[in-house]
Amino acid sequence: MMSAPDLLEHARTAAAKAHAPYSKFQVGSALLTHSGRLFTGCNVENASYGLTVCAERNAIFHAVAEEGPGMKIATLAVIALGHEFPPCGACRQVIAEFAGAETTVWFLRDGRPMALTMAELLPCGFRI
Ligand code: THU
Repeated sequence: MMSAPDLLEHARTAAAKAHAPYSKFQVGSALLTHSGRLFTGCNVENASYGLTVCAERNAIFHAVAEEGPGMKIATLAVIALGHEFPPCGACRQVIAEFAGAETTVWFLRDGRPMALTMAELLPCGFRI
């Protein structure tokens, strides 16, 4: 059973691989799927800034590519080297696509791991 600090550590390792020459924000994400597999991602920026993809979305897309469209997130962590923040709004919507209301998302707050559920992170998200 992987603990939240372990998952955040995997996210930190992924952050070190970020391609972030423009913002200098190196972000990493790690997630566990319902089938127990671990996937990671980092942010990948582009000279055409709007093409940048966040770490969380890269981790999720990696997981879907491996497990298929039925992939479900059990828990996800995000970390930035030298900064603290929860997932951006766009990533919250993408996490919600593959998560439930009680799925936990871990990030650092004042140097300590903090978890919020998807219900807390994205109340009233878009659904069809
Ligand atoms: N970024 C992420 O990877 N995840 C987030 O949740 C917020 C922002 C990245 C995108 C960009 O490369 C850099 O952080 C600064 O916005």
